Amino acid sequence: MFDRIAPTYDLLNRLLSFGRDVAWRRRAARCLGDRGPIRVLDLATGTADLPIALLQECPRISDVVGVDCSEEMLRVGREKIGRRGLSDRVRLVRGDATNTPFSDASFDAVTMAFGIRNTPDAKATLDEIHRLLGPAGTAVVLEFSLPANPVMRWGYLAYLRFVIPVIGALVSRDRGAYRYLNQSIEAFHGPAAFCAMMEQAGFRDVSAAPLTGGVASIYKGSKAPSDGGDL
Ligand SMILES: C[S@@+](CC[C@H](N)C(=O)[O-])C[C@H]1O[C@@H](n2cnc3c(N)ncnc32)[C@H](O)[C@@H]1O
Repeated sequence: MFDRIAPTYDLLNRLLSFGRDVAWRRRAARCLGDRGPIRVLDLATGTADLPIALLQECPRISDVVGVDCSEEMLRVGREKIGRRGLSDRVRLVRGDATNTPFSDASFDAVTMAFGIRNTPDAKATLDEIHRLLGPAGTAVVLEFSLPANPVMRWGYLAYLRFVIPVIGALVSRDRGAYRYLNQSIEAFHGPAAFCAMMEQAGFRDVSAAPLTGGVASIYKGSKAPSDGGDL
């Protein structure tokens, strides 16, 4: 599905989120603070928007490895990385976020934007993120959620169910993909349940920050107890 929608993926993100997705990724990137140099893994990296935001917001990141299972999404991402002159700091590889080839504790931070909802088992993905983090590592997960405010929730659900599938089908010419989007958002864990799952996976200092009234949330957790620093 992501191979099919890759050419229009970025355009639809900007249209359907009214451009907010860019600000959400930048805010997620800032969760890593300014310690460095650090190595970052971005799972389900798609067209590499989060690696780009990470390098814009955290100049002390040494390098970012992006993993995605869709070769077409990666192709669009590689073009963007090349155009921005970031090819020496970002490497995009095809792979499965739930079973990566990297050894234990290979990264200082692992990020994932709008990807964990798409993996078959969110807890297994969190286990993999935990395994990949070094002892002082940080996980940052950005994912859609539903607003807690009942009026906002009602309006957002109407937008998800009736507007997104129509615009998504018109622009991407894929009727199924943007219907899947609203169904997967509605079916995904809420912030409290997702934080509990992160704790079950072994993360400490787990937090959730709602974005734009709660239509998305940033989840953060650390591998070791916090010493008061950012990482
Ligand atoms: C909604 S897109 C998010 C892309 C990007 N992170 C962003 O912020 O726009 C979800 C991505 O997850 C990828 N994906 C889904 N399941 C995956 C898996 N098991 N392993 C790796 N990538 C996966 C898809 O190919 C797609 O590129």
